[in-house]
Amino acid sequence: MEYTLITGASGGIGEALAHGLAARKHNLVLVARSADKLRELHRILTDKYKTDVKFIAADLSKPDAPRQLFDETQKQGLEISMLINNAGIGSSGEFTDIDLNAELSLLQLNITSMVHLSHLYLAKMKKKRKGTLINIASMTAFMPVPYMATYAASKVFVRSFTEALTQEYKPYGIQVMLLSPGLTRTNFNEAAGLNSEKGNALSSDYSNAPTQTPEEVATETLSALDKKKHFHISGSKNRWGMRLLALLPNRMITGFMADSYRKKINQNL
Ligand SMILES: NC(=O)c1ccc[n+]([C@@H]2O[C@H](COP(=O)([O-])OP(=O)(O)OC[C@H]3O[C@@H](n4cnc5c(N)ncnc54)[C@H](OP(=O)(O)O)[C@@H]3O)[C@@H](O)[C@H]2O)c1
Repeated sequence: MEYTLITGASGGIGEALAHGLAARKHNLVLVARSADKLRELHRILTDKYKTDVKFIAADLSKPDAPRQLFDETQKQGLEISMLINNAGIGSSGEFTDIDLNAELSLLQLNITSMVHLSHLYLAKMKKKRKGTLINIASMTAFMPVPYMATYAASKVFVRSFTEALTQEYKPYGIQVMLLSPGLTRTNFNEAAGLNSEKGNALSSDYSNAPTQTPEEVATETLSALDKKKHFHISGSKNRWGMRLLALLPNRMITGFMADSYRKKINQNL
């Protein structure tokens, strides 16, 4: 039986995608660290949509976790025809003030595990000559972001990697899509330490910047998928913002952002 595997399905955009896909009768494999949240979501989706839903608790910031996850789906005989690499975390603040292990863990999750899972499941899809891969980037995939340097750079990787795979796997009938959400009201800011003055200083505070709900992002993602798109920025304001930013040199954007951040948090250097 075919399944869609969603990483980071226990909340936010991943959870909203799980609802949207279950409503379309996709069988699902839900992955995140929080087994309790996954169990509860599994119960809700199974009751509501009557699809087959499995869940596997895994910490994808651990180097062996993607391989173990792949082996587990193989052992259970689940054919993953769609993979959504959605799990991701952020970080914020001056680079050397952020715990180094946290930054390395972010890279392991946002980049290495995404590459690892893509490699394992795309090889299977290639043999079948069908399948779908969706990687979740961010608006930060389009520019360097001072005081969110590592997170933003990780999403640049996601973008570059995904856009290249799109072309490599076209001949096999595999749809590879990059989805870049803008500010979305999830637990992301809290987990990244951005629900404080740092969020405000980086203009990524949910209370004073344009945002979308995770459900809106999921609806746009599925619609982009239906249209066979390879690239989608969710939110019309984000799409317009990106067009305008593309006209400016990066050094101007980063200089402005860094000055504004320092002013807003009254950093005396
Ligand atoms: N929210 C935004 O404003 C925004 C904007 C642009 C891009 N994005 C991107 O959208 C994606 C989803 O984020 P979100 O906004 O939905 O954030 P979220 O609400 O914090 O959800 C993150 C999901 O990833 C899981 N996760 C975190 N660390 C993990 C790990 N080590 N191993 C396995 N799963 C892990 C979390 O579950 P557990 O804690 O249970 O593991 C959760 O299910 C991320 O890639 C993020 O970079 C978000």
